[in-house]
Amino acid sequence: MTETDMKLRVTPIGNGTVIDHIPPGQALNVLRILGIDRTTEATISVLMNVSSRRSGKKDIVKVEDRELKEEEVNKISLIAPGATINIIRDQRVVEKYTVDMPDLIVGVVRCPNPSCISNTREPIKSQILVKSKNPVILRCVYCEQPIAEKIADYLI
Ligand SMILES: Nc1ncnc2c1ncn2[C@@H]1O[C@H](COP(=O)(O)OP(=O)(O)OP(=O)(O)O)[C@@H](O)[C@H]1O
Ligand SMILES: [Mg+2]
Ligand SMILES: [Zn+2]
Repeated sequence: MTETDMKLRVTPIGNGTVIDHIPPGQALNVLRILGIDRTTEATISVLMNVSSRRSGKKDIVKVEDRELKEEEVNKISLIAPGATINIIRDQRVVEKYTVDMPDLIVGVVRCPNPSCISNTREPIKSQILVKSKNPVILRCVYCEQPIAEKIADYLI
């Protein structure tokens, strides 16, 4: 942890998960994708527009007393592809990995095609197929509509 974080920004957490290197402005979308909202009881710290040596500015999310599972956290790769996940135990980083884009993304982004069956009242969850990770090419499983639009605008 940096000196600045340690001394000024937030109290170190004993156990939990730090999501680091989130593009600036995306922290709230990260919370949304993770399903963290007012019903969540965990203590959450959100840092926005923190200066970063690597990228100028970044956002950080710290979730206390919860070790987020790789498959739940990978969903954020759509909006935060370079994010690093740090698992904290006894105030130390014991595990670190970069998010990996899943092959199929269920229930995270809406299909942009308004007449798609996944946008009707049918109890069908959106399913987006990742055709390619670099460049990112996404397609709706149901209607094959490509998703080229700004993904953050289509979050469920
Ligand atoms: N106990 C803690 N409580 C809260 N945040 C922590 C704690 N330990 C580390 N962090 C945060 O987790 C992130 C990763 O910590 P680490 O010490 O690995 O930093 P780093 O060496 O800069 O990592 P990276 O190379 O991934 O940028 C940083 O944002 C750091 O501030
Ligand atoms: Mg760092
Ligand atoms: Zn569709």
